[in-house]
Amino acid sequence: MSAISTICSIFKKHKSFLTSKELSNIIRERFKEVTIDSGMTNFPRVSTMQINGKLYYLRLYSLNNLLNASRYLWASYCLKKSKIMTPKIEQTCLTSIAEIKCYAVLENRLPGKEMASIKQNSIITGNFANDLRQWHNIPRVFYKNYKGIFAIHDKKHFGTRINRKALPNITLNEKQLELISQAKGLIHKPELYSHMSISHGDVNPHNLIIHKENTIAWVDMDMICLQPIWYDLAAAMCKIMIKNHPSDINVFEKAYFKNKPELYQEWKLLKNHWLFLYNVLEAVKWFATDRTKRLGSKQFSNNNPNLDSFKWGQKYFIQAEAILNLANQNLSSGEIISEMNYAVEDFKSLKRLPNNNEAYQERINA
Ligand SMILES: Nc1ncnc2c1ncn2[C@@H]1O[C@H](COP(=O)(O)OP(=O)(O)O)[C@@H](O)[C@H]1O
Ligand SMILES: [Mg+2]
Repeated sequence: MSAISTICSIFKKHKSFLTSKELSNIIRERFKEVTIDSGMTNFPRVSTMQINGKLYYLRLYSLNNLLNASRYLWASYCLKKSKIMTPKIEQTCLTSIAEIKCYAVLENRLPGKEMASIKQNSIITGNFANDLRQWHNIPRVFYKNYKGIFAIHDKKHFGTRINRKALPNITLNEKQLELISQAKGLIHKPELYSHMSISHGDVNPHNLIIHKENTIAWVDMDMICLQPIWYDLAAAMCKIMIKNHPSDINVFEKAYFKNKPELYQEWKLLKNHWLFLYNVLEAVKWFATDRTKRLGSKQFSNNNPNLDSFKWGQKYFIQAEAILNLANQNLSSGEIISEMNYAVEDFKSLKRLPNNNEAYQERINA
């Protein structure tokens, strides 16, 4: 609580276009009709809001989730100093909706499109790499006083995540259990935790907004944490570069590791470990999280969010397996991305075959 009040006082300094009271009234008015259960699970966490003809994004945090809000405020305050673009926070307030107290952050809506919806080019890839580098170079002085608000993602954290149990209606096959057990073995390697740094924590193409001039703004910063830089790099490869022409990964690595040959050498040694671990962690997450509770309002292809998640989980296990199969081959990042893509495509095409097909049976029995 003390961290958030310190950060809030930073925001009191600049004058807002709405008073806290005005904002609070607008929010109450807008959410009058919403049914809210105590966990705020049916509550729209992020929503657009129009005020005087202008669009904003409104983020709501339940009071037991104030740490996320403080991370967000910290990010907005410090990232600008590090030349990383984020939406400007216009106003914050405490309010209550249907007797539930919450903290609201109103931010500017950024112009531009999600990275996920645009055809990428090497200029954007280069800018993305430079930004990620900036993230990982955020000076310690910016966060040492606020350390309490950042989760530290170390060996213990990843250990807990890998041990999560799948949902009761999901049975993992032997291959998948084997991949998890391999990942458990990896987690203890101390060299995996070199270069702890502040990181975005949720690098994916939906959280990057691209402006006309190909510059990038970062949104969705509730997951900011202290963790090895390798995690964001693995996420960048598995969630962003994988959709590009694999040759763009060279542009990415060149920009990220510019003037840092030793760091690049370290990445070459750790890359396969981290990519494997990242994919298994993602798979476990999809199999363990009950999405029916969290994403009530979102649309799913078969009305069953868990079934949709299950497909994503499978995809990450297949990517992990592809990396494991590379064993100790010294492949370039582009080649690794191709292998991951190939394995997923291969699996998808097998699924389109009839079940009695020989190739299908072989693959399933493998
Ligand atoms: N300030 C903003 N300006 C423009 N678009 C935004 C802004 N904040 C969020 N968005 C868009 O809304 C989407 C959802 O917001 P986000 O903060 O990522 O929440 P979540 O991923 O938890 O649903 C983002 O992927 C982005 O496209
Ligand atoms: Mg997001």
